[in-house]
Amino acid sequence: MEQKKPIRTYVKRQGRLTKAQKNAIEVHGPSFLIEFKEELLKVEQLFLTEQPLCFEIGFGMGDATFTIAHTNSDINYIVTDVHQPGIGNLIKLSSADNLTNIKIIPHDALEVLQFMIKDNFLSKINIFFPDPWHKKRHNKRRLVNKDNLNLIIKKLKDGGVLHIATDWEPYALEIIEVIKTSNNLTLTTNNFLERPDFRPETKYESRGMRLGHAVWDILATKG
Ligand SMILES: C[S@@+](CC[C@H](N)C(=O)[O-])C[C@H]1O[C@@H](n2cnc3c(N)ncnc32)[C@H](O)[C@@H]1O
Repeated sequence: MEQKKPIRTYVKRQGRLTKAQKNAIEVHGPSFLIEFKEELLKVEQLFLTEQPLCFEIGFGMGDATFTIAHTNSDINYIVTDVHQPGIGNLIKLSSADNLTNIKIIPHDALEVLQFMIKDNFLSKINIFFPDPWHKKRHNKRRLVNKDNLNLIIKKLKDGGVLHIATDWEPYALEIIEVIKTSNNLTLTTNNFLERPDFRPETKYESRGMRLGHAVWDILATKG
């Protein structure tokens, strides 16, 4: 029987790599990149220190991700995106700073979670400004939906935290609804909160704010 193609939550954007990004991938890629494989990751072999693990879906250009990893050296980060210039930029920033607590998997995060991450393992999952897929006929491509949330819950450990931010109100309301109807995930705040200090402003967010968009942060805990 022919297998149904998965619905992708992203489109691979064309974007030219700058010389510096290309150079960062070539020279420092081996220290930061992990190849996607349909097998469980041996996380204990990836980092110098065993400490809580945070997973990020869709870091974009990676500036906020770099700042978060730089600021929280007591947390390890496995972060994902498919956007080549962003991957180059994040490697450039991380190598210049000799960061040892971040690894990048340049692949669909949903497949990475499904195949490479153990159940009940992650202390945190960050999803900052998932593509809003505004048009009705594209809504099915939204990352945060019931099925994907079940996968996310399965991978978080008890007490693990899911942090989502979006600047698209209908999506924010939809996310609150799926969280409220999910098993085993509890909103930590009264639906929305203002951007907490521990989340730096992201590139996508800054652009939205220049256009007058508001921002919704959502925090939920497993258990
Ligand atoms: C709107 S951008 C936001 C980027 C960044 N978080 C920011 O706030 O600037 C969403 C990003 O998520 C990535 N993305 C979407 N679905 C993904 C998936 N399933 N796995 C990995 N990355 C994904 C896209 O490639 C894109 O770079």
